[in-house]
Amino acid sequence: MQEFKNKVMFITGAAHGFGEVIAKAGAQRGMKLALVDIDGAALQNVAQSISKTGTSVITMVADVTKEAEVDEAIDQTVETFGQIDLLINNAGIALAGRMWELPTRDWEWILHINVMAQVYTMKKVIPLMMAQKTHGTILNVASIAGLLDTPGMPAYHASKFASVGLTEATAYDLQRAGADIEMHVMCPGFVQTDLYHTENHRPDQYQDKQDPYYQSEVFEKGQQVAKYVITNGKPIDTIADTVFKALEDNEFYILTHPEFNPLIQDRVNRIVNHGAPDVHVMDGLM
Ligand SMILES: NC(=O)c1ccc[n+]([C@@H]2O[C@H](COP(=O)([O-])OP(=O)(O)OC[C@H]3O[C@@H](n4cnc5c(N)ncnc54)[C@H](O)[C@@H]3O)[C@@H](O)[C@H]2O)c1
Repeated sequence: MQEFKNKVMFITGAAHGFGEVIAKAGAQRGMKLALVDIDGAALQNVAQSISKTGTSVITMVADVTKEAEVDEAIDQTVETFGQIDLLINNAGIALAGRMWELPTRDWEWILHINVMAQVYTMKKVIPLMMAQKTHGTILNVASIAGLLDTPGMPAYHASKFASVGLTEATAYDLQRAGADIEMHVMCPGFVQTDLYHTENHRPDQYQDKQDPYYQSEVFEKGQQVAKYVITNGKPIDTIADTVFKALEDNEFYILTHPEFNPLIQDRVNRIVNHGAPDVHVMDGLM
């Protein structure tokens, strides 16, 4: 994507973290913004600070785990701006917890937001972009956790590996269909955002305050681990520039932490050598 001025960006999870800084960087480049988030109050704050710069911005409070709410937000964007040029599937959550301990509702929640929400937007936006007959761009925010495996957060890995695979496979089908749509998948390492506040964004349909799991030591430990890794991550200030530069350079994989590249290489080597994951290797690394 080379031109940003007057193009329409539709971005989910725009009220905090990556979504907020990418939205603001889009405004600086003269884009029109359609911002979506479940946290209405924080979304309003972001929109207010952006609209001071004269940018055209609309906000839509939606739970992106619900297809009907996603569809409605996309319809409202097209009614307002006429089209969508850049779709950024950014809304997401992180949950720590071992495979056999994490409640099924949490598995469903994370797979719904980190994977199905990306499916819902793309199912609706790809036909729209094809019909517009203008160049379209889609960026799915996955994670380095979609390229590497580590202990302690299998649900997050499952969702992010799925997001990477979804993006790669869709890119093939768009090419074969002759669509003028470029795809990108962002795979950051830890960055200082609000990601460890995932519990603040738990939708009602995934609540069960009676379940003793949420008072357990295991749950509390997971919260602490999430807080530790996110607050000790890289500062967020360079992330938006990295994203826009990668869009300009048409980089498919947007990587923010080159220090993880050898681990990606190790995993690929392990696969072709038929090797099993070895926790002792990880003990020395994370
Ligand atoms: N921060 C990191 O270290 C890191 C690393 C790799 C990948 N990521 C990914 O980046 C993306 C953004 O995360 P972040 O770090 O900026 O976290 P964040 O918590 O700061 O932002 C996530 C945003 O998504 C919104 N959201 C949550 N549930 C929602 C729902 N059901 N419907 C609509 N909006 C919802 C939140 O309100 C929030 O504004 C996520 O997909 C995350 O997995 C983050």
